[in-house]
Amino acid sequence: MASAANASFAPASGGWDPEDVSFPSGFAWGAATAAYQVEGGWNADGKGPNVWDTFTHQGGDRVFKNQTGDVACGSYTLWEEDLKCIKQLGLTHYRFSLSWSRLLPDGTTGFINQKGVDYYNKIINDLLANGVVPMVTLYHFDLPQHLEDQGGWSSDAIIDTFDSYAQFCFSTFGDQVKLWITINEPYIVAKDGYERGIVAPGVVEPGTGAYRTARNMIKAHAKAWHSYNLLFRRTQHGFVSIALNSDWAEPLDPTCLADQEATKRYMAFCLGWFAEPIFISGDYPDVMKSQISARSAKEGYQSSRLPEFTEEEKMMIKGTADFFALNYYTTRKVKHQENTHSEPSVSRDREAEQIMDHSWPRAPGSSWLAVVPWGLRKLLKYIKDMYNNPIIYITENGFSQRDFAPLDDTQRWKYFRQTLLEILKAIFLDDVRLKGYFVWSLLDNFEWTCGYSCRFGLFHVDFENPALPRVPYRSAIEYAKVISKNGLTKSTDEL
Ligand code: GAL
Repeated sequence: MASAANASFAPASGGWDPEDVSFPSGFAWGAATAAYQVEGGWNADGKGPNVWDTFTHQGGDRVFKNQTGDVACGSYTLWEEDLKCIKQLGLTHYRFSLSWSRLLPDGTTGFINQKGVDYYNKIINDLLANGVVPMVTLYHFDLPQHLEDQGGWSSDAIIDTFDSYAQFCFSTFGDQVKLWITINEPYIVAKDGYERGIVAPGVVEPGTGAYRTARNMIKAHAKAWHSYNLLFRRTQHGFVSIALNSDWAEPLDPTCLADQEATKRYMAFCLGWFAEPIFISGDYPDVMKSQISARSAKEGYQSSRLPEFTEEEKMMIKGTADFFALNYYTTRKVKHQENTHSEPSVSRDREAEQIMDHSWPRAPGSSWLAVVPWGLRKLLKYIKDMYNNPIIYITENGFSQRDFAPLDDTQRWKYFRQTLLEILKAIFLDDVRLKGYFVWSLLDNFEWTCGYSCRFGLFHVDFENPALPRVPYRSAIEYAKVISKNGLTKSTDEL
């Protein structure tokens, strides 16, 4: 069935040209940030410590030059400067996250830090006063340290604690905020935070840590969604989802059955791990369950390292997202990999090796970021087909530059432009119900283990200058033109 947007579109004679097409009216044009990456003020005005404060303060060269987010972009005191950037771009939407321990210093509602509430109220009010819709993430990697001390995402107790925090946020900000993300990228938290231990909280628990914490994040998300649904939706009329990151993947040898199957496993172990339970069945993808249980048995475990959901839990989890929030950065080729290694892990369980095609350009700031705009179109179509044609927002997409990148980032804008062309094809040719696009990120910021060495911002931030001035890259200027036209321009955008 043609979408409403598609129905109003008359193809030009001789073929369809995305450069002549507007985005659907009401398309959300956004940029995103996260509290720890931009705010600074790590111990200001009663904020409690979180796992990233601890992780960075411990040093040990796990972060580039042992840098920290103590100051970052200074957004805790420089919010007005961020607002200027948002207005300069003409954004219709701005995605940011709440620092859980700025609001609730020990993570619980036992004590509420009013200064934190005031800070976020100001952001939300200023955005709305300027016609910008806030999309608010409750948790973007910065778990209160007090909760981590009690087991963090490994402990079942976190489910109720997260739900209380979510309810507190819905009741405090929900009269103004209508777009909510509960958790950002549970895949990264589980795999890198609780299995490999390369990001905060740095827990190394191969083969089990990621599955246990992911399970708790899925249940915490679902519980918070139900709370919204039961207690707030009728009066607040908002929408709640979870931001899932996913690569697009294709078989290395498209004619090889083993590579084809490995590619399916790659997608199941990344996106399906969370999207299948939340959007479809309440349970993990079958291939994930069978794969991990078979490997666990071989390793001598009494039961699968992937803990099962009860029937009651499946009912609780299924259908708990009001839209699909996708973070897309890159694409991989995938090859079947026989696994003989003794130490279990998510990557080994999936028995699929990821390969970067050498012909794909790389974003200069991140070795992992192969720039593959067409992968996004394919991924959007895959999500449409796999997850019942949901409304989708791309809640993150971006390209990193090196530290010393010039303000004239022509090459990077080319990537953005190619990506926007692919998005137009997804909307108009594939009938994907895509409602918005958020660039990662509004500002250069603290890029986790890369510190400040890697720049994703539309605005350059001079971290050497105590005033932390924000200056637009060319990408910001070009993005503003796209937003104001609600489409790409052939002649003026030509680079
Ligand atoms: C995402 C994350 C963001 C940002 C981005 C670029 O995984 O949500 O916080 O760091 O990657 O690497």
